[in-house]
Amino acid sequence: MKLTVIGTGYLGATHAVSMAELGHEVIGLDVDQAKIDALASGEVPFHEPGLPELLSKHIGTGKLRFTTSYDEAIPFGDVHFIGVGTPQKAESHAADMRYVDSAVTEIARAAERDCIIVGKSTVPVGSAARLQELARENSADGVRVTLVWNPEFLREGHAVDDTLTPDRMVLGLETDANGQYTEEALAAEKVLREVYASQLAANIPLIVTDYQTAELVKVAANSFLATKISFINALSEITETVGGDIRTLADAIGLDERIGRKFLNAGVGFGGGCLPKDIRALRARAAELGVDQSVRFLAEVDDINLRRREHTVQLAVQQLGGSVHGRDIAVLGTAFKPESDDVRDSPALDIAARLHSMGAEVHVYDPKANANAAKRYPRLDYVDSIEQAVARAEIVLLLTEWKEFRELTPEQLNPLVRECTIVDGRNVLNPDQWINAGWKYMASGRSISR
Ligand SMILES: NC(=O)c1ccc[n+]([C@@H]2O[C@H](COP(=O)([O-])OP(=O)(O)OC[C@H]3O[C@@H](n4cnc5c(N)ncnc54)[C@H](O)[C@@H]3O)[C@@H](O)[C@H]2O)c1
Repeated sequence: MKLTVIGTGYLGATHAVSMAELGHEVIGLDVDQAKIDALASGEVPFHEPGLPELLSKHIGTGKLRFTTSYDEAIPFGDVHFIGVGTPQKAESHAADMRYVDSAVTEIARAAERDCIIVGKSTVPVGSAARLQELARENSADGVRVTLVWNPEFLREGHAVDDTLTPDRMVLGLETDANGQYTEEALAAEKVLREVYASQLAANIPLIVTDYQTAELVKVAANSFLATKISFINALSEITETVGGDIRTLADAIGLDERIGRKFLNAGVGFGGGCLPKDIRALRARAAELGVDQSVRFLAEVDDINLRRREHTVQLAVQQLGGSVHGRDIAVLGTAFKPESDDVRDSPALDIAARLHSMGAEVHVYDPKANANAAKRYPRLDYVDSIEQAVARAEIVLLLTEWKEFRELTPEQLNPLVRECTIVDGRNVLNPDQWINAGWKYMASGRSISR
């Protein structure tokens, strides 16, 4: 089939490449010329394991190409996926819909025949119905543009697998005044079943529902995950006070299959381009709808999360005798999670920046995200290795759980650091190993060790 993907960031580039891998002919479109030039030359402009290989493969097969021109892309495709950003607005917690609105308008204007728009971006509930109207208003007479909502659940770092073999797919269809799917929507569902035919044949569940439910599934999933992380981090505030071990606590409750162990790692909290903005956008939307009490708890989830950052900063201040001014601090990690170079709302980078603003000399190393971090906070000292970061450090903060940091040993750092003090901001090191080697080891949810 002939598809386009509008917006080729983390979601869109992965989707475009994956659709080519499923056998479709794909054009990826973005308004960012540099991004399109990179992709067209076979270079993925961000870190995503497995994606560069598949991109090169499908540029080679001729199934995949890139453009900045709607007039080139839209007449080519029968189905147009939208993966443009929906960041938090500068002046409020709400999602900024201007990029999605613009993409829908441009597609509808450029459409020369009937086509389908498939929204994948994460949007406030109620958007799809409005966008379907926007598409109708902007399309030429006699051209039918049908909108389906198909939220994306991929995780950065696992994006290719998650796109090719998702846990589930959701399609939100337009309904009429009686709550019945419209004829047009049912026809679009058939086409989407063809697009995803190989995945459906592999028994990946497909949930077909109305627009509102489809939109809410995505924000509900992210709100649940954020709540789970903040839940264990809230408990870590208690274990830090009374003693006890948050990891054992998480293991013990996680063995209950109703709870599960995933997303119960106490640490510096969640970040990235999705969870923080999505829980805020849901609160903002609930308030607009007059049901703000329904998700008021998400304000607390957000607060608990942000408190972890301040807690880590204060831990460093305390360990350095009350002031970090002029002190050498090693920060390992700036990405919001391992296997990603994404630093949007990253707890690691936020902590590093706060310490720098308090006068510390912050030496930062991340295997992939230094360049993105440097664009946001150019004044930190970015270095190229663990060794350079920890050289003469008075405290080491492990803030993103990259494999090379999880596998660190005290023996590796001993000859380099000035003081043997480490904050395990992700609870990934073996405390006994560090304590037995003479280190002062601290982690979220543990009382301070020797
Ligand atoms: N990153 C993830 O892990 C992930 C996972 C699931 C859902 N999402 C959602 O997907 C959406 C995109 O997220 P992302 O992380 O890929 O963002 P991103 O910022 O990496 O990419 C968005 C891209 O859209 C482009 N764009 C903006 N306006 C455009 C327009 N009018 N026409 C064409 N291109 C345009 C931008 O130049 C950019 O390249 C968001 O709604 C996000 O919440 C992201």
